[in-house]
Amino acid sequence: MKTLLIGANGQVGYELAARLAGADLLATTRSGVAPLDGVTCVALDVGDRGALRSLILDCRPDVVINASAYTAVDRAESESELAFRINAEAPAAMATACLEAGARLVHYSTDYVFDGTARSPYRTDSAVSPLGVYGRSKRAGEVAVLASGADVLVLRTAWVYGTRGQNFLRTMLRLGRERDELRVVDDQVGCPTPAWFVAAATAQLLERAAPAGIHHAVTRGQVSWFGFAEAIFVTALERGLIARAPTLVPIPSSAYPTPARRPDYSVLDSGGLAALGIDVPDWRDAFRHTLDRDGDALARLLG
Ligand SMILES: NC(=O)c1ccc[n+]([C@@H]2O[C@H](COP(=O)([O-])OP(=O)(O)OC[C@H]3O[C@@H](n4cnc5c(N)ncnc54)[C@H](OP(=O)(O)O)[C@@H]3O)[C@@H](O)[C@H]2O)c1
Repeated sequence: MKTLLIGANGQVGYELAARLAGADLLATTRSGVAPLDGVTCVALDVGDRGALRSLILDCRPDVVINASAYTAVDRAESESELAFRINAEAPAAMATACLEAGARLVHYSTDYVFDGTARSPYRTDSAVSPLGVYGRSKRAGEVAVLASGADVLVLRTAWVYGTRGQNFLRTMLRLGRERDELRVVDDQVGCPTPAWFVAAATAQLLERAAPAGIHHAVTRGQVSWFGFAEAIFVTALERGLIARAPTLVPIPSSAYPTPARRPDYSVLDSGGLAALGIDVPDWRDAFRHTLDRDGDALARLLG
């Protein structure tokens, strides 16, 4: 199966590249530099719709995986045009080219398409109502790819973390080294999801020829940011990744104002994955596995 992986430098893109390396894979990054040895990579700015279309039609892949996105949730509030270009117009162009090339498209979306007022896990068909520009741009991307007529899998994920990029795990470990006390929001709950799990779920959905449409690719269970921070420091101490943990203070979101509003309740129902026979780990097990797998890389980052 020939795969074109777009955006191989991000958290999820890198894990996909690592997983698919050795298979028939062409990756793209903005710079053209391969994310890891042994992966053939070309430069692509997905804002260039002409280049995007030519690449897909020249490459003639069986599958295009779009791991690129504009993910700066707060900055999106003042960069709406760019957010929509990357999160909606570019995926729309990818889907159109995939339809022409006869390729399946995998596209990622987010829990931020929901407003967080639910109190039971959001299903793939729950009503959407994004709170900010990022969520609206991602929803516009979902609508565009699903309406394109192409064979599209939309994987909504949430609270993604790993050893690369900007994420809560790395931020906590960095701040924990710099400060004695950290104030962490305790009234937003979600499903912390490692990037490796998103890549694994993607590969398994493709292997199982999963039905087109929306799928939720998150871990099981739920926790607040504060609870996740507690788990991070307890486990990092146990593993000897850090020598001391900061004092954690739970705070309400109102005490940590941000340009973009976030949903209070971001829990997605990943039962659809389980129904397809995909093992969906509890968030705590997934986190422990991440430290087993990537503890050395994190230790190097903490240097
Ligand atoms: N992170 C989360 O917590 C989260 C939560 C829910 C859903 N998601 C969704 O999951 C998917 C993967 O997210 P992620 O966390 O892996 O994102 P990420 O780490 O921010 O990576 C995004 C990638 O997109 C690339 N990109 C941005 N603009 C581009 C452009 N104009 N042309 C080409 N590439 C461009 C970036 O390239 P550079 O490396 O050059 O900047 C980066 O490699 C996205 O669809 C995201 O919306 C993420």
